[in-house]
Amino acid sequence: MEQFLIGGGKKLTGEYELTGAKNAVLPILAATIVTGNESIIESCPNLSDVQTMFTILRELGCKITQDEDKVIINTEPINSHTIPEHLMREMRSSVFLMGPMIARCGKVTLSYPGGCEIGLRPIDIHLSALRKLGVTIKEAHGFLECTADRLTGCRILLDFPSVGATENVMMAATAAEGETRIINPAKEPEIIDLQDYLNACGADIKGAGTGEILIRGKKSYHRAEHKVIPDRIEGGTILAAVAMTGGSIILRNAIPEHMSMTLSKLREAGCRIREGNDFVIMTAPEKLNAMDTLITQPYPGFPTDMQSQFLTLMTIAQGTSIITETIFESRFKYVEELVKMGARIKVDGRTAVVTGVDKLTGARVVSKDLRGGASLVLAGLGAEGETIVENICHIDRGYDKFELALRKIGAEIRRETIQDKT
Ligand code: EPZ
Repeated sequence: MEQFLIGGGKKLTGEYELTGAKNAVLPILAATIVTGNESIIESCPNLSDVQTMFTILRELGCKITQDEDKVIINTEPINSHTIPEHLMREMRSSVFLMGPMIARCGKVTLSYPGGCEIGLRPIDIHLSALRKLGVTIKEAHGFLECTADRLTGCRILLDFPSVGATENVMMAATAAEGETRIINPAKEPEIIDLQDYLNACGADIKGAGTGEILIRGKKSYHRAEHKVIPDRIEGGTILAAVAMTGGSIILRNAIPEHMSMTLSKLREAGCRIREGNDFVIMTAPEKLNAMDTLITQPYPGFPTDMQSQFLTLMTIAQGTSIITETIFESRFKYVEELVKMGARIKVDGRTAVVTGVDKLTGARVVSKDLRGGASLVLAGLGAEGETIVENICHIDRGYDKFELALRKIGAEIRRETIQDKT
C-alpha cells in the first residue's frame, strides 16, 4: 500500500505543463483496433489506467511500443475476442472496447463492467444503441457475448448524453453500412478528439461537440498519427490546488476553452485569471468566496470530475456553498474524510451544503476514488499540519506521479510505502 505525506500551508506557485487527457487517450487507444493498422499516439499520459489498457490490447494480440509519451500500436495481429475478466474489473471503462472490437472482428466477449466507488455505472444506453446497429448481445452469468454479422447505419437517440456510450457507437458505426446519426450525444472535448483520431485513420465523422454526430461507415482504415488533447481535469485540479493555498500559477499546454466553466467558477470564487491561446495564468485570493449554487452537468456544464476539487475549495471559503451532483449517484464518499480535517459539510442525497471554516487541520484520511482522492491531497495542501492520504492507487489512475508534479510548484508532499495491515 502507498500513501502521501503532506505538509500543509505552503503557497503553490510556478509553472505547470498539462499532459495528455486520460479520458481522451483511453477511447482513442481502444479505437486503434478499428484500423487493423499502425497508429502513432503522441502526448499519451503515463497513468495506471493507460497501462491497464495496454495490457488488455496486448492480451488481444496487439503490438505496443512506448517511447516516453509517444506510443506506437499495431492492431493488425488481433488473435483473441475476449476481454480478460480481471482487467475489466480493474478498469470498468474498458467497456468502450465493445464498439471497436465489433467493428473490426464482428464479435467480443466481456464481463459486465459493474459499478465503482462513484456509482452503479449501468451500460444500458451502450447496449440498446449497439443492438440498434445490429449487434446481438447475449447476457448470461455476468458476461456479455456480442456478435454482429453485419452492422447497418441508423438513427440513434441516446436517453442521456453518456460519454462512453457516444464513444462506443461512434467506433462501432465506423464499420456500419450507410449513415449513423447519434442524436443527443455527449459533447465533451474528448469526443471531438476521438472524431479527429478516427478521421485521421480515414473515417468520415462529423458533428462531434454538437447535438448530432454523423458517421458514414467505411470498408477499411489506414495508418494514422494523432496528438492527444491536454487534460482539462488535470488542469482544473492543479488550479484548485493553487487556489487552496492562495498561490499563483502559469498553466501551460492548456486549452482554456475546454475549461470555460471551471475558470468561470474559479473567478466567481475570487481568483484572478488571464487566458491565452495555450495557457492560463491564475492568482488566488487570500480568502475564497463561497458558491451559492454549483451544479454538475454534461459538457459544457460544470464537470462532475471537478466536483470534489471545488467542494474542497469551498470548505475554507467565506460563507456557505450548495453543491449538487447530477451525474453520479454517490460521488460524495470523500466528504467524510474532509470532515475529519475539520470541514463543515452536510450531505443530503445529491446535494452537499458546505459552511466555510477558517482553516482545515491535517489528519489521516483514506482515498476512495480518483477525483475524491486527489481532492483530499488538495485539502492537505491547504491544511494546518500534516495530512496522510492512504490508498493512493486510486489517484495514480488519473494523475502521473501527482506528488512530483505538485512538488514542482512548491508543495511539501512525498510518497511512502507501508506494509499491508492484512
Ligand atoms: C466518462 O465516464 C469519464 N470516464 C468519467 O470520468 C466522467 O466522469 C464521465 O464520463 C462523465 O463526464 C472516461 O472517459 C474514461 P457516462 P462514463 O457514460 O463514460 C449513466 C474520471 O474521474 N449511464 O457519461 O462512464 C452513468 O451511470 C472518470 O476521470 C447510464 O445510466 O460516463 C452516470 O450516472 C469518472 N447508462 C451517467 O450516465 C449507460 O449506459 C454518466 O455516465 C451509461 C451511463
